[in-house]
Amino acid sequence: MVQQEQSTIQPKSNKVIIRLHDIIRIYRMGSESIHALDGVDLDVYENEYVAIMGQSGSGKSTLMNLIGCLDRATSGYYELDGKDTTKMGNGALAHARNEKIGFVFQSFELLPRANAIRNVELPLVYSRQAVWARGQMARKALERVGLGERMHHRPNQLSGGEKQRVAVARALINNPSILLADEPTGNLDSKTSKEILALFDRLHQEGQTIIMVTHESDVACHANRIVRMLDGKIVSDLPTEQDPAYEFRHGGQRL
Ligand SMILES: Nc1ncnc2c1ncn2[C@@H]1O[C@H](COP(=O)(O)OP(=O)(O)O)[C@@H](O)[C@H]1O
Ligand SMILES: [Mg+2]
Repeated sequence: MVQQEQSTIQPKSNKVIIRLHDIIRIYRMGSESIHALDGVDLDVYENEYVAIMGQSGSGKSTLMNLIGCLDRATSGYYELDGKDTTKMGNGALAHARNEKIGFVFQSFELLPRANAIRNVELPLVYSRQAVWARGQMARKALERVGLGERMHHRPNQLSGGEKQRVAVARALINNPSILLADEPTGNLDSKTSKEILALFDRLHQEGQTIIMVTHESDVACHANRIVRMLDGKIVSDLPTEQDPAYEFRHGGQRL
């Protein structure tokens, strides 16, 4: 990516959290090969809030799964928080995922029979934390997302927005470097979507790096930067408003 001349305005953080270079992901289905990602270059800095847009099948979820270390590229370079993931074995990759990535999905993906605390604690199963400490961390995470009063409710006793809050608390429990959200408002009505977006805005203001896939422009506008995909390629990458930090890091024009 083209680096501009040194600007007088310095961005808050100059740390690259994600660096993707010439990422290719081919799915093989019998004799057919699907190029889901076809040469993706992307740098994401600490505390950026990036929206990924593009029509269905353009490769957004494949990209999120790669960034989230749920999948590996067929070829290309992926550095996560300064570490080359392509050199990691499966154990190290799973460890990086658990430590650095928080996932939020459209369909919440909560355990139906577990209450909010148990759901939020789940990523701590592999940590060396004592059981009481895990409960304490889960309670704090639920308070952070405004669900202090619903900790003992099971998913079927919660509204859609509340379920998604539980999922956000679960994603944040390990203090991840990046929050990844694949269409987090896709199953929510517009009022509830606004609540979840306000929560993301607050997390971003608190320093969280966020990458969110969405179909809707009014959702994407909450981000500082919109990356558009088509046929496995990034076709545009622009800031949502005049942003000297964006220009300093990525060049380009504003929307
Ligand atoms: N597990 C898979 N096996 C085979 N093809 C897949 C798989 N996942 C996605 N694809 C294909 O890869 C392309 C990109 O899919 P995806 O990343 O899910 O797109 P999006 O999230 O933008 O809708 C599509 O053509 C899709 O059919
Ligand atoms: Mg998708």
